[in-house]
Amino acid sequence: MELIDGKKTAQDIRAELKEKVEKLKYKSDKVPGLVTILVGDDPASQVYVRSKGKACEEIGFNSTSERLPADISEEELLSIVNKYNNDDKYNGILVQLPLPKHINEDKIIEAINPSKDVDGFHPSSVGNLVIGKDTLFPCTPYGIVELLKRYKIDPKGKHVVVVGRSNIVGKPVANLLVQKAEGANAIVTICHSAAKDLSQFTKSADILIAAIGRANFITADMVKDGAVVIDVGINRVDDSTAKKGYKIVGDVDFENVAPKTSFITPVPGGVGPMTIAMLMQNTFKAFTLVNNLD
Ligand code: GUN
Repeated sequence: MELIDGKKTAQDIRAELKEKVEKLKYKSDKVPGLVTILVGDDPASQVYVRSKGKACEEIGFNSTSERLPADISEEELLSIVNKYNNDDKYNGILVQLPLPKHINEDKIIEAINPSKDVDGFHPSSVGNLVIGKDTLFPCTPYGIVELLKRYKIDPKGKHVVVVGRSNIVGKPVANLLVQKAEGANAIVTICHSAAKDLSQFTKSADILIAAIGRANFITADMVKDGAVVIDVGINRVDDSTAKKGYKIVGDVDFENVAPKTSFITPVPGGVGPMTIAMLMQNTFKAFTLVNNLD
């Protein structure tokens, strides 16, 4: 069994981007820029947004953060998104989700200029992904594909089973891996909670991607010997021995599943850190596309 070190891989990607930004200085007087928009004061979202800003700073991107009150109107938020659509300093616009209930999330996502859609959530980005056109890919799925690539795990002809069908992870990762493209070409099954016998599917997976959002849901009896297991879960469970009173675990019962696998991502330190690294990658890509740089 080999651990897939997402923390190290994410650091590598960030270091590579930093170098690319250094080199950009010879070609352009501009640098990539990202704006993060946070509505309300959800503590987890604040942590994410802060980490995204720090990553930009470390790499040498321009970045700014809009902190908006929870009672901002949909109209005001739309006008802020529009302001950044028209501001060349920012190539990426990230609206942190979830948004307060009185705001229609789809409407906000659709207002983002697709060329600045570094989350890959705009219907135009999603459509391009499905038909196999190069576009801005959602960060977590893109991070999973990148991890497989860097660990030389070729999904071609392999049976990938994705458990979970969210728009942020399950559906886009399945669509990325089924493409006729290098690092993809997999046979993909998406399954979810309505399956009568989930293990019937998971047991046939050469590559199992768990994105369910339930702690330790994937148990050893559900996994084939020698499978590659990618755990996307980030779940809080009570732990009286931990300083904070809780610990973070994945969707996979790591202790019992890991010995059966050929490769597995730990939680934390697996897929998680890749999300921000790929957000940085997308911001860089959005910049190079707009400025016709390679
Ligand atoms: N909230 C949880 N994950 C994400 C993400 O990847 N992007 C955004 N914008 N919000 C999120």
